[in-house]
Amino acid sequence: MLREMLGLLSITFFLLATGCTRTASSPAGFRLPDGDAANGRMAFLYMQCHQCHTVAGEEFPEIPHADPPYVELGGTVSKVKTYGELVTAIINPSHELAAGYAAEIVSENGESNMYNYNGYMTVQELTDLVVFLQPHYNVVTPKYDYRIYP
Ligand code: HEC
Repeated sequence: MLREMLGLLSITFFLLATGCTRTASSPAGFRLPDGDAANGRMAFLYMQCHQCHTVAGEEFPEIPHADPPYVELGGTVSKVKTYGELVTAIINPSHELAAGYAAEIVSENGESNMYNYNGYMTVQELTDLVVFLQPHYNVVTPKYDYRIYP
């Protein structure tokens, strides 16, 4: 009896604790429909994302007058690139600038140098792009060489 009561009590506490963190701007419940990777690759090309990006493991036709430095998408990362992070990187690029690049190379006054596509990119194109890009990230947990001191 006591065990059941304790169990119920801990569930109540859990619900109270998590319930309190649910704010109106919480991403809880956010889920876009599935996309199509092949269409995403096509969208990447016709929107000319490769003007500024390379994608690990992909070859794209060269764009005349493209002005590198390129920002690589995909490749080896130490933590999962989540769906939410990729969607945000495309529709709100200044929210968090790509890691590993000097701010003055990829942004100006805190604003990402990436174009704003929000006025004409369809939701379908967005989901297709994300599904195309996500598998190009290869998550590798960093190996630390621990040195055991005697
Ligand atoms: C004019 C150049 C330019 C174009 C065109 C461009 N981007 Fe970017 N993009 C950038 C720059 C610069 C960054 C790095 C700064 C940042 O994170 O916003 C970036 C960052 C990103 C990131 C986040 C990378 C990371 O490691 O966090 C994604 C994803 C991305 N772009 C996708 C796209 C897609 C998809 C398109 C085409 C619809 C596109 N970009 C078109 C310049 C561009």
